[in-house]
Amino acid sequence: MNSPTLTGIRARSLAVGYDSAEGPVISGLDVDVAVGELTLLFGASGSGKTTLLSAFAGLLRPIEGDLVAWGDDLSNLKGSALLAYRRSVGIVFQSFHLIASLNAWENVALPLRLAGWKPAAARVRAIEALESLAMGAHRDHRPGRLSGGQRQRVAIARALASTPRLVLADEPTAHLDAVSAADTVSLLRSLVTSARAVVVATHDPRFAVADGRVVDLGLRLDGAVQPNP
Ligand SMILES: Nc1ncnc2c1ncn2[C@@H]1O[C@H](COP(=O)(O)OP(=O)(O)OP(=O)(O)O)[C@@H](O)[C@H]1O
Ligand SMILES: [Mg+2]
Repeated sequence: MNSPTLTGIRARSLAVGYDSAEGPVISGLDVDVAVGELTLLFGASGSGKTTLLSAFAGLLRPIEGDLVAWGDDLSNLKGSALLAYRRSVGIVFQSFHLIASLNAWENVALPLRLAGWKPAAARVRAIEALESLAMGAHRDHRPGRLSGGQRQRVAIARALASTPRLVLADEPTAHLDAVSAADTVSLLRSLVTSARAVVVATHDPRFAVADGRVVDLGLRLDGAVQPNP
């Protein structure tokens, strides 16, 4: 099972956290994230949703246990391999994290430029990503001229521009009105493909109607968290 062809994430007896004196935030977690599926992380504030997403993103190294993603052992990945792994992940944030002085396509193109894309190719790809999310008409608009829902669409386009195999979204509807939130829910659900996994940390019950895997971090019994099958 532990083959380099694993398409998704497998966590076994996973512990993640920050300060060893405080103990891990999450421990004893067994969970699979599979391509073609939407995985939802539920749980009260402070239960560790953002922490787990950070580990999945390759930003926080596990304290204990196994965390393997697409064949990469995230407990030991270093240097250029770790950077390449991080670049294979698209992240969507609650508060969009767009740069106010850049317009929509420039925001989407920025991570591509940082990854070494040439300016013209990055612009073309950014505009394609915006058009795929029906945001082509807003490509020259700065975030200040966009609604919350439109800003989140730009942020999702930015996450998708590098065609990631894993999309992580951290409370993507928390700052949106009901209509924009519903739009973001269906958009994120539509990103699940046979080549891509999507993980959403959320309090939003609208995501729960989706067929998918639910990891409930809310029940912290003896520090152990078990996913629902
Ligand atoms: N950078 C950090 N350094 C130290 N402790 C942290 C850090 N980030 C989070 N924590 C702690 O880890 C625990 C889990 O936090 P986390 O942000 O993962 O929860 P969450 O489920 O995402 O909560 P919310 O629903 O409020 O976003 C909390 O006790 C928090 O104080
Ligand atoms: Mg959080």
